[in-house]
Amino acid sequence: MPHNEELVVTTSTVRYPVIVEAGALERLPHHLASLRLDGALWLVSDSAVYPRHGLALEERLRGAGYTVYSRIIPSGEASKNLDQLSQLYSWMLDGGVERRDTVLALGGGVVGDIAGFAAASILRGIALVQLPTTLLAMVDAAVGGKTGVNHPLGKNLIGAFYQPRLVLADTQTLRTLPSRELRAGWAEVIKHGVIRDAGLFDQLEHWQAEYGALSIDLGILSHQTPITDIIRRAVAVKVAVVSADEREQGERIILNYGHTVGHALEAAMGYGMLLHGEAVAIGMHAEARIAAAIGLCTPELVERQQQLLSAYGLAAAFPVHADREAILALMLRDKKVERKRIRWVLPTALGAVAVRDDVPVELVRETLLGLSS
Ligand code: GLY
Repeated sequence: MPHNEELVVTTSTVRYPVIVEAGALERLPHHLASLRLDGALWLVSDSAVYPRHGLALEERLRGAGYTVYSRIIPSGEASKNLDQLSQLYSWMLDGGVERRDTVLALGGGVVGDIAGFAAASILRGIALVQLPTTLLAMVDAAVGGKTGVNHPLGKNLIGAFYQPRLVLADTQTLRTLPSRELRAGWAEVIKHGVIRDAGLFDQLEHWQAEYGALSIDLGILSHQTPITDIIRRAVAVKVAVVSADEREQGERIILNYGHTVGHALEAAMGYGMLLHGEAVAIGMHAEARIAAAIGLCTPELVERQQQLLSAYGLAAAFPVHADREAILALMLRDKKVERKRIRWVLPTALGAVAVRDDVPVELVRETLLGLSS
């Protein structure tokens, strides 16, 4: 994809740009002005990201004439709850939020989800700008309008589809991202290659072969490597899928590849043990094995995917303590189960998937039991 090609989510109801650039945050005031977002800015960030990027951003925005209010939530999934959300509402209402104001979500998926839902619901909805600072949020969570919080009974059970006015991903912020989180983000990049863009998959293989382990810790950023281009290419998959199916009534489910097993694994291990991307990587391996077991893809695809995941520092092996029967039971309770049948997204070739709800539970059980730890 050419570097300057514009990424724009275009659905029947909305249209917004997704900008992926090194140094993009410096140009945020300009982008806000061109979208005529000239009310007060309600910046939500977390305790890890705010000191690294929030302070400087706030200063830049104030310098450009904006009124900025900031709120820092504790970093981590545990913050994505109704109590934190209620505190965000009180903060904004006490501060005199108006309908012409904008919420800026600066951080990873947790910040994007909770701040996004606050924007969706306060005063029946004010403008939202997503400023993802993790690889995972850049290529997945910040694009497409899924917002919400967890409920004691499950993840992401309270929320809304609410599209931002702009997504601005500054790839320079990845320099300060802890390497484990960066690795976890590569899982979603690789996933986008497998489900929709074989060329991206090839490029990731090529990049790894050329630069080796350096690509993982991003020391490579300083060597003018194509990381921003690769991320843009992965984001382009998300933009295309969401543009075709904003509310997950059809094609959007393909983004769930690796997530049926991955979500169940996260829950079975206890949230916080595995990062989301780590669980998705293991899930992708398990689900590719299921696809091969029913003859949908070749064993070579399974092997190639495993090699790439491992080259980007992601384990495909099942965690030793994961209870496979518990995982099977959890999968049957997933949000995406319909009429008690799991809807599997399974690869048929690199860059192509099929959605199948006829995979026998026994075959899934055997595949899970056959996975090495
Ligand atoms: N993260 C999957 C989706 O946005 O649909």
